Amino acid sequence: MGNPIIPPARPVTGDEEIEAVVRVMRSGILTNGPEVKGFEDDFAELVGGRLCVAVNSGTSALHLSLLALGVKPGDEVIVPSFTFAATANVVAVIGAVPVFVDIEPGSFCLDPAAVEAAITDKTVAIIPVHLYGHPADMDRILPIARAHNLKVVEDAAQAVGASLDGRPVGTFGDTACFSFYPTKNSHAIEGGMIVTADEGLARTLRLLRSQGSLVAYQNEIAGLNNRLSDVHAAVGRVQLAKLPAWTKQRQENAKFFDAHLSGVGVPPVAAGAEHVYHQYTIRVGEEVEGGRDGLRARLAERGVGTGVYYPTQVHQLPTFLGPDAPSASRISGSLEHTEKAGREVLSLPVMPTLTQQELETIVAAVNAL
Ligand SMILES: Cc1ncc(COP(=O)(O)O)c(C=O)c1O
Repeated sequence: MGNPIIPPARPVTGDEEIEAVVRVMRSGILTNGPEVKGFEDDFAELVGGRLCVAVNSGTSALHLSLLALGVKPGDEVIVPSFTFAATANVVAVIGAVPVFVDIEPGSFCLDPAAVEAAITDKTVAIIPVHLYGHPADMDRILPIARAHNLKVVEDAAQAVGASLDGRPVGTFGDTACFSFYPTKNSHAIEGGMIVTADEGLARTLRLLRSQGSLVAYQNEIAGLNNRLSDVHAAVGRVQLAKLPAWTKQRQENAKFFDAHLSGVGVPPVAAGAEHVYHQYTIRVGEEVEGGRDGLRARLAERGVGTGVYYPTQVHQLPTFLGPDAPSASRISGSLEHTEKAGREVLSLPVMPTLTQQELETIVAAVNAL
């Protein structure tokens, strides 16, 4: 038998999660019930008591945020291209125009200078992504947004628990959006959370997620069905309770890699930033034999699974590429750091369930190659 592959991620489903599913199924209250409210209340503790609106995915959280903030067809929204496609898709499905700007090479997050240079009289919002669990430079992005009267929607899908100078991500934007997809730092099978400090906005978000009504059949505005079920919410609550210990373990795993990996670029952490290592992403330069993809293949032969997030940068997806692309977009300035990162990034397994032996296997394999 060959080596068992250490997968790039290993979603946890423990007995408590299974018991929560069964308990809710037996309760008869499957949606719009106490677990959803409880999940929102539990999550509020992670984001300074802000208002929380649970929805059925991180993508829905972003989509409803843009709708609630009044983003309209033809408006421009500044986004990184170095992100998951959802960040730009939500802009495009509204008929607004994602404007792709470059990242800072260290954090892999939006470059504030590039954001400022991209602003036109059509710009209405910025979506900074806290990629891989590292907070974007909100200290520089927020003043730019304020000066130009732009809305800020944090894409915190990968960054639950991260912070900047002690202030949690999710508390900087007009709204912030989290995802509970199975591979995220904590999951709800599927699910999302929108965070805001604005009561009016929270109410609009609650309307939008449920056909525009807070009370059945009393529809106030046109809305969707983006509700989270109580089954998902109950799983999410079980996982949230375990999240602090998992985050600590991810950070300890990262510290082990930082100390022991050689010959590759380990991920830097900005001053004041708390990184929660949704991904532990190294850079593999072209001087390494076979480049990043060659190293990836040789690691797989040694039983180490890895991830490339993301193999195609969003501005190069068929969705947005070229004048005949199905969705309009614009590139502002050079995407040099985006494209370089796209060639070099490789995410190692960093999940909290890694054993010491697995950590050592990963380090030994990378260093040997
Ligand atoms: C950066 C980013 N934004 C948005 C999303 C969308 O979240 P979901 O898959 O829950 O819709 C994800 C996750 O998949 C993500 O990684």
